[in-house]
Amino acid sequence: MKKVAILLGLAMGWAQIGFTADAGLAGDAAAGKGKAVTCGACHGPDGNSAAPTFPKLAGQGEKYLVKQMKDIRDGARSVPTMAGQVDNMSDQDLADIAAFYAAQPGSGGQADPELLALGEKVYRSGVIERNVAACTACHSPNGKGNAPAGFPSLAGQHAEYTAAQLRAYRQGYEDPAGRTNDGDTKIMRTTAFGLSDMEIDAVASYVAGLK
Ligand code: HEC
Ligand code: HEC
Repeated sequence: MKKVAILLGLAMGWAQIGFTADAGLAGDAAAGKGKAVTCGACHGPDGNSAAPTFPKLAGQGEKYLVKQMKDIRDGARSVPTMAGQVDNMSDQDLADIAAFYAAQPGSGGQADPELLALGEKVYRSGVIERNVAACTACHSPNGKGNAPAGFPSLAGQHAEYTAAQLRAYRQGYEDPAGRTNDGDTKIMRTTAFGLSDMEIDAVASYVAGLK
């Protein structure tokens, strides 16, 4: 019970930081569609990518998308595959693109039945003996995240992409070459640090099947 209260406090603290620190430009989805044409080659014309290493962007929260695109543009998140893609884009361009993808319906996915039980356990309860918080606290019971807080949706995402990100955060806990753009609070680095490879694959598969 105490743990739940701490987690909720943490989640609400993040939400508040989100609301105050970033007034945010209003995005125009129609303009964003035109600006996102080249992105479709990898992310799919409607943000539902075909290749499992390219993340789906359809239905993702606007605030999270804007943050990631700025982090990629400004070098806080290294995505070599996207070299040059967002480098010359203004904050308004990124807001428009985010509004476009956020409005597209996600194509959904499927969990591997063999990984379901372990994946569900990690997602709903965390791993208590290694201080891994339950993912539900921030990414919501249905996996849709919390868009105003900037907690990303994981539901229907390619399992391969999700697992790669969890490994990158885990590496980032100790090594700046990993994914470190979750900020000074190290929220995802700390979470992923306590996960085994098997738990990562299971939870990534589980969220792929969430609707
Ligand atoms: C050549 C392929 C390619 C193109 C073109 C491309 N991307 Fe990406 N993008 C990727 C890959 C690969 C990743 C994930 C990298 C990783 O594993 O960290 C990514 C990640 C992202 C993310 C982070 C998603 C998340 O869930 O965190 C966003 C947002 C994004 N791309 C937006 C764009 C936009 C906007 C454009 C066009 C202006 C674009 N991308 C063009 C390959 C591409
Ligand atoms: C206290 C809140 C919190 C908890 C608990 C949490 N997350 Fe996160 N997660 C976040 C935030 C915030 C981000 C975005 C970080 C950023 O802005 O770059 C994120 C990002 C992610 C991403 C990257 C998504 C993408 O599209 O690249 C994955 C994958 C993820 N979390 C999985 C998990 C899993 C699995 C768990 C449970 C084991 C979990 N998270 C627990 C807050 C949380």
